[in-house]
Amino acid sequence: MRRTQSIHGQWSSRLVFVLAATGSAVGLGNIWKFPYIAGENGGGAFVLLYLGCIFAIGLPIMIAEIMLGRRGRQSPINTMSTLAREEGLTPAWSLLGWMGVVTGFLILSYYSVIAGWALAYVFHAVGGMFEGIGADEADGLFVDLISDPAQLMLWHTLFMLLTVVVVARGVRSGLERAVEVMVPGLVVILLALVGYAAVEGHFATGFQFLFSADFSRLNANAVLTAMGHAFFTLSLGMGAIMVYGSYLASRASIATTSFMVVIADTVVALLAGLAIFPIVFAAGLEPGQGPGLIFKTLPIAFGQMPGGTFFGTLFFLLLVFAAWTSSISLVEPAVAWLVENRGMQRAWASIVTGALAWVLGVGTVLSFNLWSEGVIFGRTVFDILDYATSNVLLPLGGLLITLFAGWLMSRASVSEELALGNTVLFRLWYFLVRFVAPVGIFIVFLNVLGIL
Ligand code: TRP
Repeated sequence: MRRTQSIHGQWSSRLVFVLAATGSAVGLGNIWKFPYIAGENGGGAFVLLYLGCIFAIGLPIMIAEIMLGRRGRQSPINTMSTLAREEGLTPAWSLLGWMGVVTGFLILSYYSVIAGWALAYVFHAVGGMFEGIGADEADGLFVDLISDPAQLMLWHTLFMLLTVVVVARGVRSGLERAVEVMVPGLVVILLALVGYAAVEGHFATGFQFLFSADFSRLNANAVLTAMGHAFFTLSLGMGAIMVYGSYLASRASIATTSFMVVIADTVVALLAGLAIFPIVFAAGLEPGQGPGLIFKTLPIAFGQMPGGTFFGTLFFLLLVFAAWTSSISLVEPAVAWLVENRGMQRAWASIVTGALAWVLGVGTVLSFNLWSEGVIFGRTVFDILDYATSNVLLPLGGLLITLFAGWLMSRASVSEELALGNTVLFRLWYFLVRFVAPVGIFIVFLNVLGIL
């Protein structure tokens, strides 16, 4: 007998699911990471590749991942073993769920440290520290923060506590409440910032940087980064979206909701780029300066604009909220499993997972100061975690999802869950999941290994 509801609860409406999934998708990936990796990889051509990966690989995998979650109605680990058994396959497919749990820990460990920077900046903004600030002072402010392990630990700890508190409260009173206000709020502030960049920044230069494609600047690694980021920004490949799907009502359309989430996520990333690069160029800064990009540029804009202290505070607050509605989805798969299989109370399960990720986070904290020379081959713990998760583990998880949903599950089960009938839309999705997405991921992997 198939379950019709998860034991952990269900979203109160389809809209809430869209907000929750958007809350998971829209996060540091869109506002912090996308601009700096686009900057490091030369802009336009990279952005185009990223968009290609979002729609040809990301969207079809999101539909597949939600579909699996809703059919299994449990934590990704148990969902995968249940579905595998139902299709007469080996229950070892639960390993896909395990891989996701591990990936979630690794991501959360550094995600929380970076979200901690945003928390620190809320306080900088409130204290009026951006007023009249120039490029050098903004740089100094950032360097002072990241070179102090004690401060970073404090903010990292605070952010992890925020995450644990929400997850401990459960699907309806925790996750749902958090996403309802934050997600729309962030979009409004971002639009205001784009407006500012358009008036005061070098908007045309910024725009051109983001959208005019020069393919000579791309190499195999840029292609991998673009694809990896498509997974990261859509929260795909580790079970976060799967577990959110397991709380979705049976009658809601998976295709429609996924489409809305993907569009929202993409729009936010592009808006972030349009807010940031005009300011970067107006201040004469380098677009390729790495993870500090938004922390060194946006304060300059806030420092000059009327009401900048207010808007700066609001912006970093919303960035914290965006990160917060994402981090909760990183722990949910592990928490759901601990509750299902270990009979733990949700609150305990949240504390245990949060504590583990918190300890791992120390490696990232030290990556920006004591261990900044790197631990292996000149790479810091942060570099390694970021590369291993975005560029290897998430695409690998995605590849396994396409194999399971596209090739191993019966077409009857798949089409029953998606409820699209035998429409063009269904056949297009099936084609993308069976051929385009897996082949695409495979080629990018081979390409990086130098085999292709
Ligand atoms: N998508 C989020 C961001 O862009 C991060 C995130 C949340 C995530 N849950 C995830 C990434 C699951 C990968 C997998 O900031």
